[in-house]
Amino acid sequence: MRKFIFMAGTAVALALAGAAVAEPVDEKLVIDGEIEIVTKAKAPEGHPFDEVLSGWLFRTAETRALEADSFINPAMLTVEDGERVWNTVEGTEGKSCASCHGNAAESMKDIGAHYPKWDAATNRPVNIELQINKCREERMGAEAYAFDKGGQRPLTTYIKYQALGTPVSIDLSQGEMQKWWDTGKDLYYTRTGQLNLSCASCHEVNAGKYIRADHLSQGQVNGFPLYRLKNQGIVSLHNRFRGCIRDTRAEMPKAFSDELMALEVYVTWRGTGLSVETPAVRH
Ligand code: HEC
Ligand code: HEC
Repeated sequence: MRKFIFMAGTAVALALAGAAVAEPVDEKLVIDGEIEIVTKAKAPEGHPFDEVLSGWLFRTAETRALEADSFINPAMLTVEDGERVWNTVEGTEGKSCASCHGNAAESMKDIGAHYPKWDAATNRPVNIELQINKCREERMGAEAYAFDKGGQRPLTTYIKYQALGTPVSIDLSQGEMQKWWDTGKDLYYTRTGQLNLSCASCHEVNAGKYIRADHLSQGQVNGFPLYRLKNQGIVSLHNRFRGCIRDTRAEMPKAFSDELMALEVYVTWRGTGLSVETPAVRH
């Protein structure tokens, strides 16, 4: 077992050392010929890159085409599911999301571009998933969704979709957001697992290289939840984080744990200026 792990680690290291480098494509993403998506943006101050790049630029022509046309984007079905959940009455108060928030195209417009946000009541940052749970518990008398269960992915996708095209920006001046950003940054650069890799080992140092058949991107979060062809389904952000951590053979923190929330704050900031692409399509 040890030997196998050692070899696997060496294989990744060698794959990265000798890997071909390819430039991201130089193309524009305009969804349905209407919604212009910012896939390249000048990085915010203090960022390791000059330019932040969407993962879309690193995918094949076929995958890119799926995202550019909402008729063939398989994740649009999840957006429709989300709309159904939005209008469904649940819980002891006899309310749906729509009972209070009305038409999501208006009430939720652009909201998803500015999460995670500071939540004074719980003294932590919340993401869209946790905000949905807050409303379910505190306003609807319904149970919080467990991670990736029930309406969580459809509703999160539906809400983020209302911000399609809007550049991501989060407010680090609220509460202790800066402290969470610092923690997220530390985690991003900490090598873990038997392969001794950090997020930065792949998404910063080796961005643009191939790891097996995968063209490594900057690991941006602006498309989540997104459709993965490999899974033939919608993948939430914390599921993606957990998958990347698992690939380094490290212990995976739980979804919504302090570690993954700190990473979400920090990695979202790393994509400042990129449009929300939800629901993006990746391989
Ligand atoms: C009884 C009324 C009520 C219901 C029902 C309700 N909410 Fe809310 N929601 C609120 C209020 C009030 C706020 C603002 C205060 C807060 O953040 O708790 C809010 C805030 C939000 C926000 C944050 C908006 C922002 O500006 O950041 C989102 C997202 C949201 N709700 C989604 C939902 C979803 C999804 C549902 C259905 C699962 C839902 N809400 C059900 C009352 C409600
Ligand atoms: C062994 C290399 C490796 C490490 C280490 C790694 N990832 Fe990834 N990650 C990948 C690969 C491969 C992909 C899929 C191709 C791509 O978009 O880069 C990916 C994709 C992603 C994506 C999705 C990007 C998109 O546009 O869909 C995010 C977000 C991400 N990684 C975040 C992280 C974070 C955060 C960490 C650290 C906890 C991390 N990754 C560690 C290899 C890695």
